[in-house]
Amino acid sequence: MNISMDNFNKFNKFHTRFSFFVCFMTALAGLLFGLDIGVIAGALPFLSMDLMITHHQQEWVVSSMMFGAAIGAFCAGWISAKFGRRSSLLFGAILFIVGSLWSAFSLNVESLIIARILLGLAVGITSYTAPLYLSEIAPEKIRGSMISMYQLMITIGILVAYLSDTVFSYSGSWRWMLGIITIPAVLLFIGVLFLPGSPRWLAFHGRYKEAKKVLNMLRDSKEQVKKELNEIQDSLKIEQSGWQLFKENNNFRRAVFLGILLQIMQQFTGMNVIMYYAPKIFCLAGFNDTINQMWGTVFVGLINVLSTFIAISLVDNWGRKPTLKLGFGVMSVSMIILSFLLLIGVNNSFQKYFSVIMLMFFIIGFAMSAGPLVWVLCSEIQPLKGRDFGITISTSTNWIANMIVGATFLTMLEKFGNSNTFLFYGLLNFIFILITIKFVPETKNVSLEHIEKNLMKGKSLRNIGI
Ligand code: BGC
Repeated sequence: MNISMDNFNKFNKFHTRFSFFVCFMTALAGLLFGLDIGVIAGALPFLSMDLMITHHQQEWVVSSMMFGAAIGAFCAGWISAKFGRRSSLLFGAILFIVGSLWSAFSLNVESLIIARILLGLAVGITSYTAPLYLSEIAPEKIRGSMISMYQLMITIGILVAYLSDTVFSYSGSWRWMLGIITIPAVLLFIGVLFLPGSPRWLAFHGRYKEAKKVLNMLRDSKEQVKKELNEIQDSLKIEQSGWQLFKENNNFRRAVFLGILLQIMQQFTGMNVIMYYAPKIFCLAGFNDTINQMWGTVFVGLINVLSTFIAISLVDNWGRKPTLKLGFGVMSVSMIILSFLLLIGVNNSFQKYFSVIMLMFFIIGFAMSAGPLVWVLCSEIQPLKGRDFGITISTSTNWIANMIVGATFLTMLEKFGNSNTFLFYGLLNFIFILITIKFVPETKNVSLEHIEKNLMKGKSLRNIGI
């Protein structure tokens, strides 16, 4: 009896460990997403001096990655449906490796921009595929927290990039800052080689035996495997026909537009202005020493990681809508105060540190709300039949909006002045509170089927969770 119990425990442990390995390897894609977003902040001042590039070219170095990511996210639905989630992740990992090496060895700004577009393609493809694969492979009870875990990995990636930038900033070696990302990219590549195919994708292609084999490796009981296979078979009866549905059905169009709106709001909070140009913002706040600016940036990254935990604990208790409203409120107030400080000029150390505190409040506001919640909401509001289409559109929108913000910040500072630029983002965040009240539904503790039923019945968007 004891021996068989022992075997049973071992069996169980193997499944848990294997599921954990699979989730960890997939979340590594989130880490690379974060690394590539974060790395440019520290590398930019050094590479701009070295390659002697203008403000406008700097904006392009930053935003070319988002351009690639928008295209990558747009094609990812097709790639991952045709070749499978695993191949899609593998392709992303190869692009990460090539892009990281290429950017480290770039001799001029044009070559660097091409490398950043390649990295963007990798980020776009993996930022669509990884959460999808996770949701298809993770056991039901941890599915929700896996999406938040993914966001956590993004923020950890940003922090690690800031830290590594700071270490290399002592020697000013921007090529090392960009090149070192090859290591986690190779790790992702090797890890993905060991990942099993998605059972859902395999079943969709009629490969039931293989799907069952994968589920046998991931789940701890035969009954569970059987139950999930049946569920997969049932859900496959619903054919994905997003484009058709989009053309014909106004209710579905409303969900797609809500996804677009949510992602635009997330990006136009101005969060990435800080993510990409943090050292520059510290400079505006009166920190003239590069090393101080770099450590300040690491601090920004750390606050971002820690505040994501607030979201993870609030999202299922307090709900999506109040958390979002509070987050936009905090961001609005902190940006407006920052704008005021920049207007009167940061003259003494009190004002200097006060502006840093406002910056921190802004980061907390984002990381506890719009950061993770927009991804959560976007995956919840689409009806099953148009899910792939809806998520493709909202993910691509995220990257297009991200690119616009990244590509215009320095020009805005130049044209409208520092204070007005921050005021602009502060006011936008205020408008987002109103938009949240009017259009965003509360989806806490509501089944996806219920949301879908309400949406398709024509209920107003803000009530589809009731
Ligand atoms: C956003 C990214 C942002 C990151 C910051 C993500 O949710 O989509 O654009 O850089 O959060 O933590």
